[in-house]
Amino acid sequence: MQGEWQAISGLHLAKAGETFLSYFCWALYQSNLMYILGIESSCDDTSAAVLQDTRILSNVIANQDVHQKFGGVVPELASRAHQQNIIPVVEVALRKAKIEKKQLDAIAFTRGPGLLGSLLVGTSFAKSFAMGLDIPIIEVDHLKAHILSHFIDDDETKNHPKFPFLCLTVSGGHTQIVRVDSASEMTILGKTIDDAAGEAFDKAAKTMGLPYPGGPEIDKLAKLGNPLAFTFPASSMQGLNYSFSGLKTAFLYFLRDRLKEDEQFIEKHKADLAASIQFTIIKMLLNKVKRAIKETGITQIALAGGVSANSGLRQSLTEMAAKNNWQTFIPKIQYSTDNAAMIAIAGYFKYLDGDFAGQDVVPYSKSK
Ligand code: KG4
Ligand code: ZN
Repeated sequence: MQGEWQAISGLHLAKAGETFLSYFCWALYQSNLMYILGIESSCDDTSAAVLQDTRILSNVIANQDVHQKFGGVVPELASRAHQQNIIPVVEVALRKAKIEKKQLDAIAFTRGPGLLGSLLVGTSFAKSFAMGLDIPIIEVDHLKAHILSHFIDDDETKNHPKFPFLCLTVSGGHTQIVRVDSASEMTILGKTIDDAAGEAFDKAAKTMGLPYPGGPEIDKLAKLGNPLAFTFPASSMQGLNYSFSGLKTAFLYFLRDRLKEDEQFIEKHKADLAASIQFTIIKMLLNKVKRAIKETGITQIALAGGVSANSGLRQSLTEMAAKNNWQTFIPKIQYSTDNAAMIAIAGYFKYLDGDFAGQDVVPYSKSK
């Protein structure tokens, strides 16, 4: 009996030792964890996020409704709203992450591309906050951050692309097919020579009299319509480039002619119009993706940017991938549209490379 007790207590001791050791390793690991605050202010969303290494602790976004009545973003109003929102948004992000500002290791901010006045608010805030805390700043390219959003860890998303992969980045200002070889090596294989895919959605919506931003409105209506009801010209550029301005004009002229015959044309065919224009944009986008995959032999394809929130695009890519044996990475809606978590993850990779910015850094409005 005693022997048995001794054996059990020996076991307990061994277990206690093991527990202590794993706690010690965990504490050591915890002490090396990095807290990065991300700041995004490139357009009309003010956002702040906190990441613990790659794990998301908070991602707070303040949208600016002020632009809705103007049918598009008014740069002056956007800068002013960022100025009002930035401190409360950062405070909430820190509170939600349950950390003190003195625990931050670095501040990553969007340097560009975007609206200069908007970028200046985030950049100036990041600089002064970091100076006060005596921590480094990291400048982040907005488009690369959209792509790197695929590496954010949360409770459900743990499956990330492996390098190299292709990314279709589709936003309000950009449309690109990018070959991603590492967090810092990205090559643009093709891009739009005029309007971006998001602009094509927004302009089509505006022509139909839908509120801004039009992309989500078209998406909603398209679910109720027939994508083959109307046919619009899907222009094809050389190589992997895109052009959406012809489609925009064709859509405008088509509606102008139909409205001459019937004033109620848009009202009567809203859903079919939305479904047909969305179908054409998606077809144009995915034709080039197919070609890029064929040319590069890379079969992992990721979506990024605001338009990647489009349910038709997500579904079509998923179906195409299933047929062709490709692996897809489709971001959660909260990481599709502009957010600071993607800025923080891009900052995390740069932190690992020791790639910090000086206090003299200035924003850029156009892609470098
Ligand atoms: O990436 P993002 O939030 O901002 C930029 O960096 O531009 O993208 C905004 C664009 C807008 O054009 C918006 O209409 C479009 O993304 N968008 C959508 C959807 N949600 C946002 N387009 C189509 N369907 C959606 N569900
Ligand atoms: Zn964006």
